[in-house]
Amino acid sequence: MNRDSAFAIVQEYVSNENLIRHMLAVEAAMRFYAEKLEQDQELWGMTGLLHDFDWEIHPTLDEHPMAGVPILRDKGVPEEIIQAILSHAEHTGVPRTTLMQKGLFACDEITGLITAVALVRPTDLWMI
Ligand SMILES: [Fe+2]
Ligand SMILES: [Fe+2]
Repeated sequence: MNRDSAFAIVQEYVSNENLIRHMLAVEAAMRFYAEKLEQDQELWGMTGLLHDFDWEIHPTLDEHPMAGVPILRDKGVPEEIIQAILSHAEHTGVPRTTLMQKGLFACDEITGLITAVALVRPTDLWMI
């Protein structure tokens, strides 16, 4: 598994541009923090890139991200990435115990906030 094969999975299962942008943003944030914390940038980056890959095919919390796991296993995605993906969603019950799992949860949140702030246009500010 490398970045190209991880991105190929994203391209196979995701067509929504905003969702792809979200996963690319989380990938970038994960790589930044992996470097900062002297962790494996490739591993952290791929985890961010793949974490919501099944949202389009499993768009409910009854399914996402659990139902995507068999697909990831079939594609040869390392278990460390799969466990981190499971842990990013509270309802899976998979605890966040590793630095990478905690990093994914944090990067998922912070990139959402940054994207929302970036989308606020200056002309909207008078209403706040
Ligand atoms: Fe998610
Ligand atoms: Fe996400």
